[in-house]
Amino acid sequence: MTLAPDSLHPDVAAVLDGLADSAQPVETARVLPPEAYGSPAFHEFEKAAVFRRSWLCVGRVQQLPEAGDYFAVTIADEPLLVVRGDDGAVRAMSALCRHRGHPLKESCSGNEKRFVCPYHRWTYGRDGSFVGAPHMKKVISQRALAAESALPQLKVEIWQGFIFVNFDDAAEPLAPTLTKLDPYLENYDLDAMVTIPPRFDPEPGPWNWKMLLENYIEPYHTEFVHPVIHDFAPSTGVQFDPWSDGDNVIVRSVPFRAADGGLTEHGWAAPAAFPVIEGLNETQRNRVGFGMIPPTMNIIFTPDMLCYGLVYPAGPTGFTVGGGLFTAGGWCVPKATAGLPDFDARAARLMEGSRQLGAQDTTVNLAMQRAKASVFAPRGRYSHLEETLSQFNRWLAVKYRAEAGRRGWSAPVPGMPAGVAAGD
Ligand SMILES: [Fe+2]
Repeated sequence: MTLAPDSLHPDVAAVLDGLADSAQPVETARVLPPEAYGSPAFHEFEKAAVFRRSWLCVGRVQQLPEAGDYFAVTIADEPLLVVRGDDGAVRAMSALCRHRGHPLKESCSGNEKRFVCPYHRWTYGRDGSFVGAPHMKKVISQRALAAESALPQLKVEIWQGFIFVNFDDAAEPLAPTLTKLDPYLENYDLDAMVTIPPRFDPEPGPWNWKMLLENYIEPYHTEFVHPVIHDFAPSTGVQFDPWSDGDNVIVRSVPFRAADGGLTEHGWAAPAAFPVIEGLNETQRNRVGFGMIPPTMNIIFTPDMLCYGLVYPAGPTGFTVGGGLFTAGGWCVPKATAGLPDFDARAARLMEGSRQLGAQDTTVNLAMQRAKASVFAPRGRYSHLEETLSQFNRWLAVKYRAEAGRRGWSAPVPGMPAGVAAGD
Protein backbone atom coordinates (compact mmCIF):
# COMPACT_ATOMS: atom_id res chain seq x y z
CA MET A 1 0.00 0.00 0.00
CA THR A 2 1.36 3.39 -0.95
CA LEU A 3 0.38 6.31 1.16
CA ALA A 4 0.49 9.86 0.00
CA PRO A 5 3.07 11.85 1.98
CA ASP A 6 1.62 13.48 5.03
CA SER A 7 1.23 17.17 4.60
CA LEU A 8 4.03 19.23 6.01
CA HIS A 9 2.73 21.14 9.04
CA PRO A 10 4.20 24.64 9.41
CA ASP A 11 5.60 23.79 12.88
CA VAL A 12 7.44 20.78 11.45
CA ALA A 13 8.66 22.85 8.53
CA ALA A 14 9.96 25.46 10.97
CA VAL A 15 12.06 22.90 12.84
CA LEU A 16 13.34 21.22 9.68
CA ASP A 17 14.28 24.62 8.31
CA GLY A 18 16.02 25.52 11.57
CA LEU A 19 18.29 22.48 11.38
CA ALA A 20 20.46 24.34 8.91
CA ASP A 21 21.51 26.54 11.84
CA SER A 22 21.11 24.08 14.74
CA ALA A 23 22.85 20.97 13.41
CA GLN A 24 26.25 22.62 13.31
CA PRO A 25 29.52 22.48 15.24
CA VAL A 26 29.24 24.38 18.51
CA GLU A 27 31.15 27.36 17.14
CA THR A 28 28.25 28.23 14.85
CA ALA A 29 25.26 26.24 16.12
CA ARG A 30 22.05 27.81 17.35
CA VAL A 31 19.26 26.60 19.63
CA LEU A 32 16.56 24.52 17.92
CA PRO A 33 13.41 26.39 16.87
CA PRO A 34 10.87 26.73 19.71
CA GLU A 35 8.35 24.55 17.85
CA ALA A 36 10.62 21.59 18.67
CA TYR A 37 9.72 21.96 22.34
CA GLY A 38 5.94 22.22 22.45
CA SER A 39 4.15 21.89 19.14
CA PRO A 40 1.72 18.94 19.12
CA ALA A 41 2.22 18.57 15.36
CA PHE A 42 5.97 18.48 15.74
CA HIS A 43 5.68 16.00 18.59
CA GLU A 44 3.72 13.61 16.33
CA PHE A 45 6.43 13.97 13.69
CA GLU A 46 9.12 13.41 16.32
CA LYS A 47 7.49 10.23 17.58
CA ALA A 48 7.78 8.79 14.07
CA ALA A 49 11.20 10.29 13.32
CA VAL A 50 12.93 9.54 16.62
CA PHE A 51 11.02 7.13 18.84
CA ARG A 52 9.99 4.71 16.08
CA ARG A 53 13.49 4.76 14.57
CA SER A 54 15.92 4.63 17.50
CA TRP A 55 17.19 2.14 20.03
CA LEU A 56 15.24 2.77 23.23
CA CYS A 57 16.55 1.55 26.57
CA VAL A 58 13.87 -0.13 28.68
CA GLY A 59 15.88 -1.65 31.52
CA ARG A 60 18.38 -4.35 32.43
CA VAL A 61 18.31 -8.10 31.83
CA GLN A 62 18.89 -8.56 35.56
CA GLN A 63 15.32 -7.38 36.07
CA LEU A 64 14.13 -10.51 34.24
CA PRO A 65 16.10 -13.44 35.70
CA GLU A 66 13.40 -16.15 35.29
CA ALA A 67 11.16 -17.32 32.45
CA GLY A 68 7.91 -15.35 32.63
CA ASP A 69 9.47 -12.34 34.35
CA TYR A 70 8.21 -9.18 32.69
CA PHE A 71 7.85 -5.45 33.02
CA ALA A 72 5.50 -3.10 31.22
CA VAL A 73 6.58 0.36 30.11
CA THR A 74 5.02 3.08 27.96
CA ILE A 75 7.27 5.02 25.59
CA ALA A 76 5.83 7.86 23.53
CA ASP A 77 2.25 6.53 23.75
CA GLU A 78 3.26 2.91 23.01
CA PRO A 79 2.56 0.46 25.87
CA LEU A 80 5.19 -2.29 25.67
CA LEU A 81 5.74 -5.62 27.39
CA VAL A 82 9.28 -6.85 27.93
CA VAL A 83 9.30 -10.55 28.82
CA ARG A 84 11.77 -13.38 29.30
CA GLY A 85 10.42 -16.39 27.42
CA ASP A 86 10.55 -20.09 28.24
CA ASP A 87 13.44 -20.31 25.77
CA GLY A 88 15.41 -17.73 27.77
CA ALA A 89 15.11 -14.99 25.14
CA VAL A 90 14.15 -11.47 26.15
CA ARG A 91 11.37 -10.18 23.89
CA ALA A 92 9.68 -6.81 23.56
CA MET A 93 6.18 -6.58 22.16
CA SER A 94 3.18 -4.32 22.02
CA ALA A 95 1.22 -4.64 25.26
CA LEU A 96 -2.09 -3.97 23.48
CA CYS A 97 -4.54 -6.86 23.19
CA ARG A 98 -5.14 -7.63 19.50
CA HIS A 99 -8.88 -7.61 20.08
CA ARG A 100 -9.79 -4.00 20.76
CA GLY A 101 -6.56 -2.73 22.19
CA HIS A 102 -6.85 -2.76 25.96
CA PRO A 103 -3.33 -2.98 27.45
CA LEU A 104 -2.53 -6.40 28.86
CA LYS A 105 -0.27 -4.74 31.44
CA GLU A 106 0.66 -1.17 32.22
CA SER A 107 3.44 0.31 34.41
CA CYS A 108 4.03 -2.85 36.41
CA SER A 109 6.29 -5.87 36.67
CA GLY A 110 6.02 -9.45 37.83
CA ASN A 111 5.94 -13.03 36.55
CA GLU A 112 3.18 -14.56 34.40
CA LYS A 113 2.66 -17.86 32.66
CA ARG A 114 0.08 -16.21 30.39
CA PHE A 115 -0.85 -12.59 29.68
CA VAL A 116 -4.61 -12.21 29.97
CA CYS A 117 -6.42 -9.10 28.80
CA PRO A 118 -8.54 -7.80 31.68
CA TYR A 119 -11.28 -6.64 29.25
CA HIS A 120 -12.42 -9.87 27.48
CA ARG A 121 -9.87 -12.44 28.65
CA TRP A 122 -8.00 -12.84 25.38
CA THR A 123 -4.86 -14.71 26.36
CA TYR A 124 -1.25 -14.68 25.13
CA GLY A 125 1.85 -16.75 25.82
CA ARG A 126 5.16 -15.49 27.17
CA ASP A 127 6.41 -15.17 23.58
CA GLY A 128 3.44 -13.04 22.55
CA SER A 129 1.66 -15.78 20.64
CA PHE A 130 -2.14 -15.94 20.83
CA VAL A 131 -3.36 -18.71 23.12
CA GLY A 132 -7.13 -18.33 23.16
CA ALA A 133 -10.19 -16.10 23.50
CA PRO A 134 -13.64 -16.87 24.89
CA HIS A 135 -16.86 -16.75 22.82
CA MET A 136 -15.17 -16.28 19.44
CA LYS A 137 -15.78 -19.65 17.76
CA LYS A 138 -19.07 -18.61 16.11
CA VAL A 139 -17.25 -16.03 14.00
CA ILE A 140 -13.71 -17.36 13.62
CA SER A 141 -11.75 -20.48 14.52
CA GLN A 142 -9.15 -20.24 17.27
CA ARG A 143 -6.53 -21.29 14.72
CA ALA A 144 -7.45 -18.48 12.33
CA LEU A 145 -7.61 -16.01 15.19
CA ALA A 146 -4.18 -17.12 16.40
CA ALA A 147 -2.73 -16.55 12.95
CA GLU A 148 -3.68 -12.88 13.02
CA SER A 149 -3.45 -12.10 16.72
CA ALA A 150 0.15 -12.50 17.86
CA LEU A 151 1.45 -9.44 19.69
CA PRO A 152 3.64 -7.33 17.36
CA GLN A 153 7.30 -7.76 18.24
CA LEU A 154 10.02 -5.14 18.44
CA LYS A 155 13.65 -5.67 17.62
CA VAL A 156 15.76 -6.27 20.75
CA GLU A 157 19.48 -5.79 21.40
CA ILE A 158 21.21 -6.41 24.70
CA TRP A 159 24.16 -4.10 25.25
CA GLN A 160 26.20 -4.47 28.45
CA GLY A 161 23.14 -6.04 30.10
CA PHE A 162 20.89 -3.14 29.09
CA ILE A 163 17.79 -4.06 27.06
CA PHE A 164 17.25 -1.84 24.03
CA VAL A 165 14.22 -2.11 21.75
CA ASN A 166 13.58 -0.69 18.30
CA PHE A 167 10.32 -0.37 16.33
CA ASP A 168 12.34 -0.43 13.12
CA ASP A 169 12.98 -3.98 11.92
CA ALA A 170 15.71 -2.68 9.63
CA ALA A 171 17.60 -0.85 12.40
CA GLU A 172 21.38 -1.18 12.31
CA PRO A 173 22.98 -2.83 15.37
CA LEU A 174 23.42 -0.50 18.33
CA ALA A 175 26.66 -1.71 19.93
CA PRO A 176 29.06 -0.47 17.19
CA THR A 177 27.69 3.05 17.68
CA LEU A 178 28.42 3.13 21.42
CA THR A 179 32.16 2.44 21.45
CA LYS A 180 32.86 5.92 22.80
CA LEU A 181 31.66 4.60 26.16
CA ASP A 182 34.27 1.81 26.29
CA PRO A 183 36.86 3.76 28.31
CA TYR A 184 34.14 4.81 30.74
CA LEU A 185 32.83 1.26 31.19
CA GLU A 186 36.17 -0.46 31.74
CA ASN A 187 36.93 -1.70 35.26
CA TYR A 188 33.31 -1.38 36.45
CA ASP A 189 32.68 -5.11 35.86
CA LEU A 190 29.06 -4.30 35.08
CA ASP A 191 28.01 -7.92 34.61
CA ALA A 192 28.93 -8.69 38.21
CA MET A 193 27.13 -5.65 39.59
CA VAL A 194 23.75 -5.56 41.26
CA THR A 195 21.07 -3.41 39.62
CA ILE A 196 18.62 -1.39 41.67
CA PRO A 197 16.01 -0.51 39.01
CA PRO A 198 14.84 3.08 38.53
CA ARG A 199 11.77 4.22 40.40
CA PHE A 200 9.59 6.09 37.95
CA ASP A 201 7.98 9.29 39.07
CA PRO A 202 4.21 8.68 38.81
CA GLU A 203 3.61 12.29 37.77
CA PRO A 204 4.96 13.38 34.37
CA GLY A 205 7.35 16.32 34.41
CA PRO A 206 5.73 19.30 32.68
CA TRP A 207 8.29 20.16 30.05
CA ASN A 208 9.65 18.74 26.79
CA TRP A 209 11.79 15.61 27.07
CA LYS A 210 14.67 17.18 25.11
CA MET A 211 14.90 20.03 27.57
CA LEU A 212 15.48 17.59 30.44
CA LEU A 213 18.31 15.91 28.55
CA GLU A 214 19.79 19.23 27.41
CA ASN A 215 19.91 20.50 30.97
CA TYR A 216 21.46 17.20 32.06
CA ILE A 217 24.16 17.08 29.40
CA GLU A 218 25.44 20.68 29.35
CA PRO A 219 27.92 21.92 31.97
CA TYR A 220 27.61 25.65 31.17
CA HIS A 221 24.92 26.20 33.81
CA THR A 222 26.28 24.25 36.73
CA GLU A 223 28.30 26.99 38.45
CA PHE A 224 25.40 29.46 38.15
CA VAL A 225 22.37 27.24 38.90
CA HIS A 226 24.11 24.95 41.41
CA PRO A 227 26.55 27.20 43.34
CA VAL A 228 28.41 25.43 46.19
CA ILE A 229 26.84 21.99 45.61
CA HIS A 230 28.42 21.59 42.17
CA ASP A 231 31.74 23.33 42.95
CA PHE A 232 33.43 19.97 43.53
CA ALA A 233 32.83 19.15 39.84
CA PRO A 234 33.61 22.47 38.14
CA SER A 235 32.71 23.09 34.50
CA THR A 236 36.19 24.46 33.93
CA GLY A 237 38.12 21.36 33.02
CA VAL A 238 35.19 19.56 31.41
CA GLN A 239 36.23 17.32 28.55
CA PHE A 240 33.97 16.61 25.60
CA ASP A 241 34.30 13.42 23.61
CA PRO A 242 34.28 14.51 19.97
CA TRP A 243 31.31 13.81 17.72
CA SER A 244 31.27 11.48 14.72
CA ASP A 245 28.25 11.10 12.48
CA GLY A 246 26.57 7.81 13.29
CA ASP A 247 27.35 7.99 17.01
CA ASN A 248 24.53 7.06 19.33
CA VAL A 249 26.22 8.38 22.43
CA ILE A 250 27.05 11.84 23.71
CA VAL A 251 29.44 12.03 26.63
CA ARG A 252 31.45 14.51 28.66
CA SER A 253 33.59 14.11 31.75
CA VAL A 254 34.03 16.56 34.59
CA PRO A 255 37.09 16.41 36.85
CA PHE A 256 36.57 16.27 40.60
CA ARG A 257 38.49 18.56 42.95
CA ALA A 258 39.62 15.43 44.86
CA ALA A 259 39.62 11.70 44.26
CA ASP A 260 36.78 9.31 45.09
CA GLY A 261 33.91 11.76 45.09
CA GLY A 262 30.29 11.26 44.26
CA LEU A 263 26.86 12.66 44.95
CA THR A 264 26.22 13.25 48.66
CA GLU A 265 23.86 15.24 50.85
CA HIS A 266 26.24 18.17 50.27
CA GLY A 267 26.01 17.83 46.49
CA TRP A 268 29.07 16.61 44.63
CA ALA A 269 31.72 15.92 47.28
CA ALA A 270 34.23 13.40 48.61
CA PRO A 271 33.99 10.82 49.96
CA ALA A 272 31.16 9.44 47.83
CA ALA A 273 28.03 8.05 49.48
CA PHE A 274 29.01 4.47 48.59
CA PRO A 275 32.44 2.80 48.79
CA VAL A 276 34.74 3.38 45.82
CA ILE A 277 34.61 0.54 43.32
CA GLU A 278 37.74 -1.58 43.38
CA GLY A 279 39.84 -1.65 40.24
CA LEU A 280 38.95 1.78 38.84
CA ASN A 281 41.91 3.67 37.44
CA GLU A 282 43.14 7.10 38.59
CA THR A 283 41.24 8.87 35.82
CA GLN A 284 37.99 7.17 36.77
CA ARG A 285 38.46 7.97 40.46
CA ASN A 286 38.94 11.64 39.74
CA ARG A 287 36.00 12.45 37.53
CA VAL A 288 32.32 12.01 36.85
CA GLY A 289 31.33 10.92 33.36
CA PHE A 290 27.97 12.17 32.11
CA GLY A 291 26.77 10.27 29.06
CA MET A 292 23.55 9.81 27.21
CA ILE A 293 22.28 7.35 24.64
CA PRO A 294 19.54 9.39 23.02
CA PRO A 295 16.63 9.51 22.97
CA THR A 296 15.80 7.68 26.22
CA MET A 297 18.83 7.04 28.39
CA ASN A 298 21.36 8.84 30.49
CA ILE A 299 24.32 7.06 32.05
CA ILE A 300 26.58 8.44 34.77
CA PHE A 301 29.94 7.04 35.83
CA THR A 302 31.13 7.93 39.34
CA PRO A 303 33.79 6.27 41.49
CA ASP A 304 31.11 4.59 43.60
CA MET A 305 28.51 3.50 41.02
CA LEU A 306 27.26 3.41 37.50
CA CYS A 307 23.89 5.10 37.35
CA TYR A 308 21.37 5.15 34.52
CA GLY A 309 18.12 6.98 33.95
CA LEU A 310 15.26 6.45 31.51
CA VAL A 311 13.43 9.43 30.03
CA TYR A 312 10.27 8.90 27.97
CA PRO A 313 8.18 11.62 26.35
CA ALA A 314 4.58 11.96 27.49
CA GLY A 315 3.07 14.47 25.09
CA PRO A 316 4.79 17.52 23.59
CA THR A 317 5.47 19.13 26.97
CA GLY A 318 5.72 16.15 29.28
CA PHE A 319 7.98 13.25 30.15
CA THR A 320 8.22 10.40 32.60
CA VAL A 321 11.57 9.71 34.19
CA GLY A 322 13.12 7.07 36.42
CA GLY A 323 16.63 6.90 37.84
CA GLY A 324 19.64 8.72 36.43
CA LEU A 325 19.96 10.81 39.61
CA PHE A 326 16.60 12.37 38.65
CA THR A 327 14.81 9.87 40.88
CA ALA A 328 16.08 7.00 43.04
CA GLY A 329 17.38 3.83 41.44
CA GLY A 330 19.00 3.04 38.16
CA TRP A 331 22.00 2.19 40.30
CA CYS A 332 24.52 -0.49 39.37
CA VAL A 333 26.77 -1.21 42.36
CA PRO A 334 29.08 -4.03 43.44
CA LYS A 335 27.45 -6.82 45.43
CA ALA A 336 29.38 -5.70 48.53
CA THR A 337 27.85 -2.23 48.27
CA ALA A 338 24.32 -3.54 47.79
CA GLY A 339 24.78 -5.70 50.88
CA LEU A 340 25.92 -2.92 53.20
CA PRO A 341 23.77 -2.78 56.35
CA ASP A 342 23.55 1.01 56.00
CA PHE A 343 22.83 0.94 52.25
CA ASP A 344 19.50 2.76 52.65
CA ALA A 345 21.04 5.50 54.77
CA ARG A 346 23.80 6.03 52.21
CA ALA A 347 21.25 6.07 49.39
CA ALA A 348 19.25 8.67 51.30
CA ARG A 349 22.36 10.91 51.48
CA LEU A 350 22.80 10.64 47.75
CA MET A 351 19.12 11.37 47.10
CA GLU A 352 19.29 14.48 49.28
CA GLY A 353 21.97 15.82 46.94
CA SER A 354 19.82 14.76 44.00
CA ARG A 355 16.84 16.62 45.49
CA GLN A 356 18.83 19.84 45.82
CA LEU A 357 20.21 19.69 42.28
CA GLY A 358 16.83 18.64 40.90
CA ALA A 359 14.95 21.50 42.56
CA GLN A 360 17.34 24.02 41.04
CA ASP A 361 17.16 22.45 37.58
CA THR A 362 13.37 22.18 37.73
CA THR A 363 13.04 25.93 38.31
CA VAL A 364 15.16 26.56 35.23
CA ASN A 365 13.40 23.97 33.07
CA LEU A 366 9.93 25.27 33.91
CA ALA A 367 10.96 28.81 33.02
CA MET A 368 12.53 27.57 29.78
CA GLN A 369 9.35 25.73 28.78
CA ARG A 370 7.29 28.90 29.32
CA ALA A 371 9.77 30.86 27.20
CA LYS A 372 9.23 28.57 24.19
CA ALA A 373 5.68 29.97 23.81
CA SER A 374 6.89 33.55 23.31
CA VAL A 375 6.96 35.22 19.91
CA PHE A 376 10.41 36.39 21.04
CA ALA A 377 11.66 32.88 21.87
CA PRO A 378 15.33 33.15 20.93
CA ARG A 379 17.51 30.89 18.84
CA GLY A 380 20.72 32.00 20.48
CA ARG A 381 24.34 30.95 20.04
CA TYR A 382 25.97 28.37 22.28
CA SER A 383 28.98 28.65 24.55
CA HIS A 384 31.88 26.26 23.93
CA LEU A 385 30.66 24.61 27.16
CA GLU A 386 27.52 23.59 25.27
CA GLU A 387 29.38 21.31 22.86
CA THR A 388 27.07 18.49 23.93
CA LEU A 389 24.00 20.47 22.80
CA SER A 390 25.48 20.91 19.36
CA GLN A 391 26.08 17.14 19.34
CA PHE A 392 22.50 16.43 20.43
CA ASN A 393 21.16 18.72 17.69
CA ARG A 394 23.24 16.87 15.12
CA TRP A 395 21.96 13.51 16.37
CA LEU A 396 18.37 14.76 16.18
CA ALA A 397 18.89 16.26 12.72
CA VAL A 398 19.87 12.88 11.28
CA LYS A 399 16.58 11.43 12.56
CA TYR A 400 14.41 14.38 11.53
CA ARG A 401 15.88 14.60 8.02
CA ALA A 402 15.61 10.86 7.43
CA GLU A 403 11.91 10.96 8.34
CA ALA A 404 11.33 13.99 6.08
CA GLY A 405 12.98 12.00 3.31
CA ARG A 406 10.78 8.94 3.92
CA ARG A 407 7.75 11.21 3.65
CA GLY A 408 8.96 12.58 0.37
CA TRP A 409 9.23 16.14 1.62
CA SER A 410 11.73 17.35 -0.90
CA ALA A 411 11.66 20.21 -3.36
CA PRO A 412 9.54 21.15 -5.21
CA VAL A 413 6.97 20.29 -2.52
CA PRO A 414 5.53 23.66 -1.44
CA GLY A 415 7.00 24.78 1.85
CA MET A 416 9.90 22.39 1.60
CA PRO A 417 12.60 23.76 3.88
CA ALA A 418 16.11 24.25 2.62
CA GLY A 419 18.63 21.58 3.46
CA VAL A 420 16.24 18.62 3.60
CA ALA A 421 17.06 15.96 1.06
CA ALA A 422 14.72 13.12 0.26
CA GLY A 423 15.83 9.60 0.98
CA ASP A 424 18.64 10.22 3.46
FE1 LIG B 1 21.80 21.34 36.49
